[in-house]
Amino acid sequence: MAVIQLQDVEKVYRGKVHALRGVSIEVMDGEIFGLLGPNGAGKSTLVKILMTVIHASKVSGTMLGNPIGNRKTLENVGYLPEHHRFPYYLTGKQVLHHYGALCKVGRKERNSRSSSLLTRLGLAGWENKKVETYSKGMLQRLGIAQALMNNPTLLILDEPTDGVDPVGRREIRDLLAELREEGRAVFLNSHLLSELEMVCDRVAIMVKGRVTMQGTIQSLTVDSQRYEIKIAGEMPAWAKEHCSEVHGNMLVCKGNDPSIVQPILDRLRSENITIVSVNPVRENLEDLFMRAVDNTDSPGAIQ
Ligand SMILES: Nc1ncnc2c1ncn2[C@@H]1O[C@H](COP(=O)(O)OP(=O)(O)O)[C@@H](O)[C@H]1O
Ligand SMILES: [Mg+2]
Repeated sequence: MAVIQLQDVEKVYRGKVHALRGVSIEVMDGEIFGLLGPNGAGKSTLVKILMTVIHASKVSGTMLGNPIGNRKTLENVGYLPEHHRFPYYLTGKQVLHHYGALCKVGRKERNSRSSSLLTRLGLAGWENKKVETYSKGMLQRLGIAQALMNNPTLLILDEPTDGVDPVGRREIRDLLAELREEGRAVFLNSHLLSELEMVCDRVAIMVKGRVTMQGTIQSLTVDSQRYEIKIAGEMPAWAKEHCSEVHGNMLVCKGNDPSIVQPILDRLRSENITIVSVNPVRENLEDLFMRAVDNTDSPGAIQ
């Protein structure tokens, strides 16, 4: 079942910035879905529309089965806004109580959830310290704890690892995987690609207000799978016919089945050609992303 389903979302800000241009995405139950794109792509705009912070110029679709814009749905959604600021004079525990109360979580439940979340997010021992003494990474972790106060079935996180150091990022990734295990769906935005590659079940790439690719990283990179065979010495004349490409002393065979390279390796060996290396290669998320960005920058791309 889809927890978020959007068709043709458009947003034109009053200053006439056309931030979203026909965005359609689908986030499934129990998955971690990553929306990635460079700054200014429109990621936060989309999230704010889902959270009813702003209105779309045009939207159709559902979130948790209800039409977008239904406030009641938000009771089951946890939200980490971008660039959030907590009142500096509150302690971590007070922040969680405050947001829990806003979500109408009862006092007893607020107590138990805030303590367990502070521990879970690695903030035990800091609960009674004011948030003005917290580091950026700690504030981000507190933000995620805040998003979990209403025990949501869907979490929407806008740049959750923003300003977090590598160790903290890893902890957040592990936490996201745990939340998925608990059956929650996670929709997150990021401009940090390697983060997403490691944790997301599916991704969408957004550039200039459009989703240019969407799917599992596996499915998006499948066409790029190839074997690269590096040899020493001169390239045999037959290589061009039997391989997809030849570059210098490199033979390239497209595909992901190791059987495709065996006859080529046999022939190279039989001709006493030294094989320096055989590498299976596929695009990573960064290559994909660069390709998506390049395509929209090229002349003739739809604007
Ligand atoms: N309140 C606003 N008024 C006018 N333009 C805005 C507003 N908020 C965002 N924008 C513009 O919309 C575009 C998308 O912004 P945003 O959704 O914040 O992108 P991202 O989160 O991907 O960095 C940018 O060009 C940004 O300048
Ligand atoms: Mg943003």
